[in-house]
Amino acid sequence: MGMIYLQCFVLLLHCSSVHGKSEGALPQSCNNMTPGHTNTAAQTSPAPYSVTVSKTKYTGGDTISVTLSKTAAKQFKGYLIQARNQDGTKIPGFNLIANSKYLKCDSPNDAVTHTEAAGKDSVTFQFTAPTTSKGNITIFTTAVENYSTYWVMMQSDTIIDAVVTGASSRLFPNCVLVAISLFCFHLYRH
Ligand SMILES: *[C@@H]1O[C@H](CO)[C@@H](O)[C@H](O)[C@H]1NC(C)=O
Ligand SMILES: *[C@@H]1O[C@H](CO)[C@@H](O)[C@H](O)[C@H]1NC(C)=O
Repeated sequence: MGMIYLQCFVLLLHCSSVHGKSEGALPQSCNNMTPGHTNTAAQTSPAPYSVTVSKTKYTGGDTISVTLSKTAAKQFKGYLIQARNQDGTKIPGFNLIANSKYLKCDSPNDAVTHTEAAGKDSVTFQFTAPTTSKGNITIFTTAVENYSTYWVMMQSDTIIDAVVTGASSRLFPNCVLVAISLFCFHLYRH
């Protein structure tokens, strides 16, 4: 008899942990980044969490740290993190950390989510910027405090595409100018 009670208890524990969405965000959350929690809605108050980035300008292949952290007492249990450009295109480049996995939205490493629902103070991912220009990038993050309380698509500062905006080096445009001048000179001589 005691054994059966024990088995029921273990089964109950197991059920409640699944209910806590320990499996992370599901594919249907790829675009609206909203958890499929029945009869709930995203919070509209300022989030007690922040998303920070270690760089606000990128050139190809830069590594950028992306951190989701609590700004008040409340820990978060779940999260979904993506990078998108100004056209809304998801930009891949995340590396995994412990207790995380890829959601695989439009490409294999363009979204990361949790694999267990313990309370967290912060998570930090390394994001490798695309090697070719993809425009300005913003990190979008959803953080789940509990089943009915979550904040959707919190935004980081913009990470500006230094190549497209010329925010870093003027070397490339200068080279183009020199090349065009040489070409024109060449035409002129003929
Ligand atoms: C990217 O950001 C820079 C700096 O704010 C801005 O000048 C540029 O127009 C932006 N590019 C796009 C495509 O939005
Ligand atoms: C979820 O979080 C809110 C806000 O902190 C809290 O009021 C509520 O009691 C929590 N619900 C559960 C089921 O823990």
